[in-house]
Amino acid sequence: MAREKVIQGDSTPRPKPERASTPLAAPPVALGSVFNPDDQRFDDELRPQRLSEIVGQKKVLGRLQILLDATLKRKEPLGHILLDGPPGLGKTTLAMTLAREMGVECQITSGPAVEAPKDLLSYLTNASYGSVLFIDEIHRLRPNVEEFIYPVMEDFRVDIVLGEGMNARTINMKLKPFTIIGATTRSGMLTAPLRDRFNFREHLEFYEVADLAEIVRRNANKLRTAIAPEATQQIAIRSRGTPRKANNLLRWARDFATVKDDTGSITLPIIEQALAMLEVDQLGLDQQDRRYLQTLLSVFAGGPAGIQALGHTMNVPPDTLEDEVEPFLLRLGFIQRTPRGRVITSSAMEHLGITTGSGTVDEQRQLF
Ligand SMILES: Nc1ncnc2c1ncn2[C@@H]1O[C@H](COP(=O)(O)OP(=O)(O)OP(=O)(O)O)[C@@H](O)[C@H]1O
Ligand SMILES: [Mg+2]
Repeated sequence: MAREKVIQGDSTPRPKPERASTPLAAPPVALGSVFNPDDQRFDDELRPQRLSEIVGQKKVLGRLQILLDATLKRKEPLGHILLDGPPGLGKTTLAMTLAREMGVECQITSGPAVEAPKDLLSYLTNASYGSVLFIDEIHRLRPNVEEFIYPVMEDFRVDIVLGEGMNARTINMKLKPFTIIGATTRSGMLTAPLRDRFNFREHLEFYEVADLAEIVRRNANKLRTAIAPEATQQIAIRSRGTPRKANNLLRWARDFATVKDDTGSITLPIIEQALAMLEVDQLGLDQQDRRYLQTLLSVFAGGPAGIQALGHTMNVPPDTLEDEVEPFLLRLGFIQRTPRGRVITSSAMEHLGITTGSGTVDEQRQLF
């Protein structure tokens, strides 16, 4: 497997430009096939470069800043860090910014890309003192690779077995101390031994509307697009607590405004029309979210329904539903995850325009 690109950290403090000088410059890093190519291009364009440019997640940032300062003071490598949380909340961004703040190299790979221990070997032997190895989707590492990584994380040692059976020999190789930053959307799928080998674990939560509005404002500035404060607020409200969604809605609104408005600026009427055309509703739910709720309601009588069954009925991989659709519906209190499966709630039915009246949800569900 070919190694993916390496980005070089930059320890020199830079002034923060209010406007990027080349807003459409080629992305500095290619992350292989992990992302939707479209999202990736856009992600890289707008990705904050320094810790001070990251908006929101104040508590997490506060703790990471302490780790960073201590590391820089002692001139020792950072401990291994696990970042978890739903897609698009800034795990990759945080990992890259940490490496950049430390002024070290950052190698990037992902769980599914590492098929065997030998695929990881080149990353490990290339890891310089204090550098960062970012492993995305770390919950998808194969068991044999996971076992191989344990001594790496604990003692910076690899154990290579040569030969087979009676003649098998184990060779130990020492590595330079470095940092593994793992990212996962499913920390629950990580095995306990792997999870325990991370010195620090941080969970990223959905963003507040005020933080998302600030992200939209800064990014519109980077993209040299004029946007009205009310339009910024609308994007923030409807981006499901997720910076990546906010960026994607901003991109759509910019395209829409370019075509529909002579000045190309994003005003409140423009954003309303743009989001209506995209079928994003007042809470930010899109077609897929509503289809999920409608399937749960009409095919499974409101639940309980297993995720596999839901996925098969909707013809969407259950993993996609679990990663991309359910976290926000759970946060809104639109579904419940019970031991017997997913159940729709009365607030979801109200949102879909189905009045629950005075009856219980269960009674109401009998109607469907
Ligand atoms: N705190 C933040 N401040 C400003 N922009 C952010 C922040 N977090 C994320 N973003 C924006 O959202 C985009 C997506 O973030 P990122 O790629 O880091 O998410 P992720 O958690 O790694 O997602 P995935 O699980 O899909 O890999 C970034 O390119 C960046 O532009
Ligand atoms: Mg990522």
